[in-house]
Amino acid sequence: MERNERYLEVAVKAAREAGRIQKLYFGSSLQIEFKGEINPVTEVDRLCDRAISEILLQTFPDHDLLTEESPFEKKGSPYRWIVDPMDGTTNYLHGYPCFCVSIALEFEKEVILGVVYNPILDELFISEKGKGAYLNGKKISVSQEKNLFRSFLSTGFPYDVHDHGDFYLRYFREFLIRSFAIRRPGSAALDLCYLAAGRFDGFWELKLQPWDVAAGALMVMEAGGKITDFRGQPFHIYSKEVLASNGWIHSQMLETIKEAEKNL
Ligand code: IPD
Ligand code: CA
Ligand code: CA
Repeated sequence: MERNERYLEVAVKAAREAGRIQKLYFGSSLQIEFKGEINPVTEVDRLCDRAISEILLQTFPDHDLLTEESPFEKKGSPYRWIVDPMDGTTNYLHGYPCFCVSIALEFEKEVILGVVYNPILDELFISEKGKGAYLNGKKISVSQEKNLFRSFLSTGFPYDVHDHGDFYLRYFREFLIRSFAIRRPGSAALDLCYLAAGRFDGFWELKLQPWDVAAGALMVMEAGGKITDFRGQPFHIYSKEVLASNGWIHSQMLETIKEAEKNL
């Protein structure tokens, strides 16, 4: 078995195990802690974190592991797993079935593999650098919508939205009056996968973390989409702006951002 196939196999195993845990406890009453005013973490996030870390590190003990719920210990490996054990915790704790597991692998600072699993719909998204993006084994690609006014967009708001509400709403307002419709699903990893699958035509968000976007961004690129920062410059997973699209509407989305920023 090729090395990359092994990475993918283990990532899928870890994602499915965390998904199993999410499904098992979904709808039960949970212990919740708050990392910020509206930034929750549940015991299920931690259980998933532990399960994924065990599976990955059992097989690849020398690799680095960056996960949302554990402190980062740098080993200095060229391989770095980037994990969101549960993306969509706010949805999860309200019994709203829109959440997932997101696992990506970086090699020498480039994401080479991404796995996102939604256990409720049993949808497994995978992508490998240069090999395309797949949903439950079927190749996916971005939509062909060319007009922003006809586009179905998604977005999200960071956890400091109470302090900077007007700032984020400027972008929301401009997109609202220039698009067909907007959704705020509550899981950035799924937003990006849905864009890759042609369900959404575009997505923007500020202040996301690498674990929110690493797997989903590769999914978008491998499905033929485009992802940049808000100026149209190359995207990287540690940057704080994400603008992703099917490619066709990208310049119209950049224009919209410019328009929003005129009034900041
Ligand atoms: C959150 C989700 C949400 C996004 C937030 C993220 P979490 O991740 O991806 O869609 O709007 O910015 O922090 O906290 O559920 O892992
Ligand atoms: Ca997240
Ligand atoms: Ca999370």
